[in-house]
Amino acid sequence: MALRENEPVEAEAVERIAALMRRRLTGESVARIIGEREFYGSAFALNRATLEPRPETELLVDMALDVLPKGGRLLDMGTGTGCIPISVLANRADATGVATDLSAEALAAARGNAERHGVADRLDFRQGSWFGAVAAASRFNLIVSNPPYINSAVVETLSPEVRDFDPRLALDGGPDGLAPYRIIVKEAGNWLQPDGRVLVEIGRDQGEAVAALFRAAGFGPVAVHKDLNGLDRVVSAPCLTS
Ligand SMILES: C[S@@+](CC[C@H](N)C(=O)[O-])C[C@H]1O[C@@H](n2cnc3c(N)ncnc32)[C@H](O)[C@@H]1O
Repeated sequence: MALRENEPVEAEAVERIAALMRRRLTGESVARIIGEREFYGSAFALNRATLEPRPETELLVDMALDVLPKGGRLLDMGTGTGCIPISVLANRADATGVATDLSAEALAAARGNAERHGVADRLDFRQGSWFGAVAAASRFNLIVSNPPYINSAVVETLSPEVRDFDPRLALDGGPDGLAPYRIIVKEAGNWLQPDGRVLVEIGRDQGEAVAALFRAAGFGPVAVHKDLNGLDRVVSAPCLTS
């Protein structure tokens, strides 16, 4: 149904719409153009340093909500817009957390999103590389991450929407796409409570490789979980002491 169809459109409005269309034609997504994207039922503001949250990452939030104990403490590394810990804390008033990113600009967006969704008083933000950003002697019930996991050589072959607009820092996982997982696997045990667990998002073809890294480091039982498309998406790795 057309509304106000007989109303003339001002020349200035036509130019504004044309400019937005030109941006879209370069491959910039509608979410980037309007500056926010919906995730787990809430809107998250984006900036040029944040990955656009993807619907498949909602599985990580569902799983975190299932396993985080009452009063639990969560660490999210590589938080981007903060979509993962903010969604968890918004649904669990008893939980607290720490969110880290190497990018100060991404953290600024995440802080704004935490305020917008009423969890800023329960979520600390820290800048730095992986566990280097976390205060010494902190311990968590749950460590989550959706790290950059695309093979460096493949990044150049991605669609323009992703390659030209999502930040490289959020995409490039090193020569085999597994570099951040090796760091997480190696160090997570030092930051987990004895009955703690790690949940990481993975690329669809990385389930076996990432699960094998956790098993070799003594985690278990390690499981690979599929998303709604039936693709491997999350590896769950409890401390063996649990
Ligand atoms: C795939 S994005 C995920 C963003 C967000 N968690 C999500 O799921 O939408 C990976 C994030 O890791 C961050 N990152 C990259 N290298 C990092 C490092 N060495 N230490 C901490 N964060 C890093 C990027 O800036 C980016 O925000």
